[in-house]
Amino acid sequence: MKTLFNTTLSAVAAMIISFNATAGGAGVHLDPANTDINDEASLQRGAQSFMNYCSGCHSIELMRYNRIAKDLNISETDMANNLMFNAEKTGSTIFSSMPDDGAKEWFGTTPPDLSLTARARGTDWVYTYLKGFYADDSRPYGVNNHVLENASMPDVLWQLKQDKSERAFNQDVRDITNFLDYVAEPVKLIRYEIGVKVLGFLFILFILAYLLKKEYWKDVKYGKWRAKD
Ligand code: HEC
Repeated sequence: MKTLFNTTLSAVAAMIISFNATAGGAGVHLDPANTDINDEASLQRGAQSFMNYCSGCHSIELMRYNRIAKDLNISETDMANNLMFNAEKTGSTIFSSMPDDGAKEWFGTTPPDLSLTARARGTDWVYTYLKGFYADDSRPYGVNNHVLENASMPDVLWQLKQDKSERAFNQDVRDITNFLDYVAEPVKLIRYEIGVKVLGFLFILFILAYLLKKEYWKDVKYGKWRAKD
């Protein structure tokens, strides 16, 4: 039994280690994103930044504007006026304004759809990637990336990085990452809420079951059941 336990334990440890290795890439240090999916203001800012800085190239095909409006408490008018650059209808999915063949020509690759990126890569990866651009004249856009070597994406947030304090810039990047985390799993918003309620319910059930058990066993004395007189 003990060996079985040990083998399972080391298998789990190995899985965790190899998972970290693939998620991080060899030796790349990832900064903790510290995003909070329950921070609605952060999600709203992230949505706005995404539309401003990213939607020119990246789509989020698994997400519709009106779903975002509903989940993040943005009115549909605000949505239509401030966030929808590429679409006419709030029921539309979020596609990019970039034609596929043009993108291939300009970047050598099509900017990937970001619907599931935060789940596939992890929020720490996305956060560190967006902050990880550095000057490199050998690259077409004059920048390279610490996390994704020879990335063909330009440093689209360079202006923000220049104009803001480091703290404010980190918060901007955190907001975008938070938004992408929400996009990758919108039910997370209610999943956590339901989880807490279920645990609360189980706790109350536990107390009731315990009281009931006490009541049932009151008459049973030390394993010897005696019929009541
Ligand atoms: C000018 C076009 C362009 C803009 C604007 C742009 N990207 Fe990109 N992005 C790309 C391209 C091209 C790639 C593919 C890079 C590669 O694989 O070499 C990419 C890759 C990525 C990846 C890596 C995906 C993966 O799993 O490999 C992420 C994450 C990403 N972009 C996020 C963003 C975010 C967030 C923004 C807005 C702040 C943004 N991008 C703005 C062109 C763009």
